[in-house]
Amino acid sequence: MARPSSHVNNSFFAAIFAVCLSSFLPVGHAQSISTNTPVPPLQWLNLTNLLHGSGPPPLKDASIGYDPDSRSLLIFGGESQGGFPQSQTYLLNLNTLIWSTPTPPDGLTNTPPPRSAAIGGSDFAASYRHGHVVIGGKDANGQPLSDVWEFDYVNHFWTQVGIPPGGPSRWSASGGIDVTVAFDPTGLPTPNNTFYLAGGVGTKGPAVVSDTWVMKITGTLSSNLANDVSASWTHQPIGSYPAVAGDGGTVIGQQVVAIGGCENTTSVTASCAQQGSWVFNFGRGSSIAPGPCAAPRIGPAVVANMNGRR
Ligand SMILES: *[C@@H]1O[C@H](CO)[C@@H](O)[C@H](O)[C@H]1NC(C)=O
Ligand SMILES: *[C@@H]1O[C@H](CO)[C@@H](O)[C@H](O)[C@H]1NC(C)=O
Ligand SMILES: *[C@@H]1O[C@H](CO)[C@@H](O)[C@H](O)[C@H]1NC(C)=O
Repeated sequence: MARPSSHVNNSFFAAIFAVCLSSFLPVGHAQSISTNTPVPPLQWLNLTNLLHGSGPPPLKDASIGYDPDSRSLLIFGGESQGGFPQSQTYLLNLNTLIWSTPTPPDGLTNTPPPRSAAIGGSDFAASYRHGHVVIGGKDANGQPLSDVWEFDYVNHFWTQVGIPPGGPSRWSASGGIDVTVAFDPTGLPTPNNTFYLAGGVGTKGPAVVSDTWVMKITGTLSSNLANDVSASWTHQPIGSYPAVAGDGGTVIGQQVVAIGGCENTTSVTASCAQQGSWVFNFGRGSSIAPGPCAAPRIGPAVVANMNGRR
């Protein structure tokens, strides 16, 4: 899932932008959507006055998840107004419109350390896992993290995912998972899901956006088997593109789309925003940098336009 934008206008334009860009993406068997694809009707509903309970304070670059079974929106971490990374988890039940914080089972109260600008997304694998995964991010010292955590939507606890060292340490990467892609039933010990990562800021500053990685996750997420989720990374660099920070992205099938950001700097401001966009196709090991589509921007919320799907 893409990092959030709390700015209505940014998200709105980013959605239009994604529609524009998605016309470059091969869908299914190399058929491209018409470049004249009309923007679907989009409407923002302001729920603020209808919400109850204690919601999150203002946060930047939190991790956002959604569980369609319980109709729960999840918000984890993010940077406070004072610039400090947080580690709180909030759930908004979209049936009742009530905010809550999770009450984990006894003994399962570990939470991920504070962070912002992580990537992640849903890990739904039959009855084996029903959770939200958080990958890396930026810690309280501004350093990139490499740990991986998963929140169980069923029993409301976090578990640290076991992962061998050597994977990427990044914040502000693009990537995540397309939940419409079926899990791999041949995974062992249980079905696998696949997450993708492109670029981001590492210990030596922004990595090239074409520094691309694949993470496979497996195991069982349940309160009686609380430490059973594991994952591993494969480094699969695709193409040769600039080092950027502050780009926004999404995952469509086996492709990561990254847009905008600033080149060669972690001081991401509107004045260095650029217009680049990149599409990494992990299935084919190929990449493209489509021509400029929308105006330069930093931190766009990028959303796939599923109207072009079969
Ligand atoms: C949404 O509603 C709240 C409460 O009335 C208001 O403060 C806020 O400005 C509204 N947001 C937008 C984008 O209109
Ligand atoms: C499933 O994920 C595990 C953990 O990352 C990995 O060891 C295994 O090779 C994966 N299996 C498949 C079929 O991709
Ligand atoms: C970023 O750095 C690369 C490698 O040093 C250089 O080729 C490129 O021109 C730089 N881009 C900008 C916008 O400064």
